Formats: sequence, C-alpha cells, structure tokens
Amino acid sequence: MRLIVAKNYEEMSQRAADLIAAQVLQEEDSVLGLATGGSPVGTYDCLAEMYREGRLDFSKVTSVNLDEYEGMTHDNPQSYWYFMNEHFYSRVNIRPENTHVPDGADPDPEHACRAYDRIIEEVGGIDLQLLGIGPDGHIGFNEPADAFAVGTHLVTLEQSTIEANRRFFEKEEDVPRSAVTMGIGSIMRARRIVLVANGENKQDPVLASFFGPVTPKMPASILQLHPNCTVVLDEAAAAKIRDRI
Ligand code: PGA
Repeated sequence: MRLIVAKNYEEMSQRAADLIAAQVLQEEDSVLGLATGGSPVGTYDCLAEMYREGRLDFSKVTSVNLDEYEGMTHDNPQSYWYFMNEHFYSRVNIRPENTHVPDGADPDPEHACRAYDRIIEEVGGIDLQLLGIGPDGHIGFNEPADAFAVGTHLVTLEQSTIEANRRFFEKEEDVPRSAVTMGIGSIMRARRIVLVANGENKQDPVLASFFGPVTPKMPASILQLHPNCTVVLDEAAAAKIRDRI
C-alpha cells in the first residue's frame, strides 16, 4: 500500500485525479469504479478541468459506481446517480450508456444486486476503483460486519453513516436507512485502488484500517491486502499516522 499525504483537500484531489488521468491516458477504454460523497468531489472537479483543457478523453471510458440508496430514482436530487451526473457525467464526454450505478429503485433489490454483478462482469471488471472511507471504516456501503461480503448486496446503514450523511438532507428522518452496494469482493478484484480521505473525522478509520488488524469490523482494512492500492490523505486525516510513515 502506498500512502500519500497531501497538504490540503485541493492537493489531495489533484493527486487522486492525476492517478485516474494516468489510468485513462494509458488505457482509453478503462473501466473506472467511481464513488460519491464529499471526499471525491474535488477529484471530479480536477478531472473535469483536465477534460476542458483537452488533456483527457472519456469517450471510451466505462464507469461503475459503488452504491445507491434503496428506493432512489435517477431524478431524485438525493440519489447517487444525480450526484454523479452533477459532478462528473455532465461535465465530461463519458457516454451515458457507459455509466452504471446500482438500481436502488428496483422493487426487487436482490434482482438489482445480481444485475449489477453481471454488469461488472460484462465490462471486464474494474481497472481503477476510487474510494472514500466512512467514519466507521466502510468502503462503498460495506458497513462493519462479521464477514466480508463478496458481491453486490443490500445493506442496512449504521447510525454513524446516517449521521455522517445527514448533511446532504434536510432532516435526519430523510436519510435512507438502506442501500445497494458493490461487495468487497468486486472492490478487491479492481486492478488498482485509489482511496481519498480528508478531515479530522477520518483520523480514526485511517489509523485503524491501515495500521490495525484486517477485519470485517473495519471494512477498509482489507485494502492492506490489495496489491496496488494508493491512499491519498490530507494532513488532517493523516494526523494519527504521521509518526508511522
Ligand atoms: P464522505 O463519505 O466522502 O462524504 O466523507 C465517505 C464514505 O462514506 O465513503
């Protein structure tokens, strides 16, 4: 695992975007695994800027997103599809038919999960997976559990996740309680992983995940076993690991 400590959020975002850009420049038909949340917003800003300057072309890129809230349709401004469209799809030349987000609105979540696993398989797996990390160490919406889930599955969100996501909603009652998420198995099969984390509230999960035992109780800890994982932190998120790197 490679750890990069950037000065601040802007530098963290640029470093992560540079790694994604390198992937796309090397393989124009790359499959990018993408993430939502506050952490990767700056990364998408940097990628959109590189596209605007004519330095990147997404016309042959495919994207598969990590997760979606259960019950959310694309036109719901709180949906992760909507987030992706606002921050990334609409700002670059990725083809709409090449973008994939789990179908949170499928009345049969099990069907949505199997369909999403088929999509990941059909696109040939993920070349580079971008990740954030939750305060409880989740990646995607893989919450702390007794075992690592392999494929796409329906999850009940932890109270700490609901509280962390509360800022995107008017009231806490509005935050969905469940979501469809890509499994740890699909994430670990990505050929390359880039995780971004910023801010003080990521100090503990960063310390536990990358310097503690590998355990499904701290889902991101499994990334210690990935052969090509780069963790990009800002100084605040890195504060508790500074003396170990
Ligand atoms: P955040 O979420 O980027 O909004 O902090 C990260 C995550 O939950 O994966």
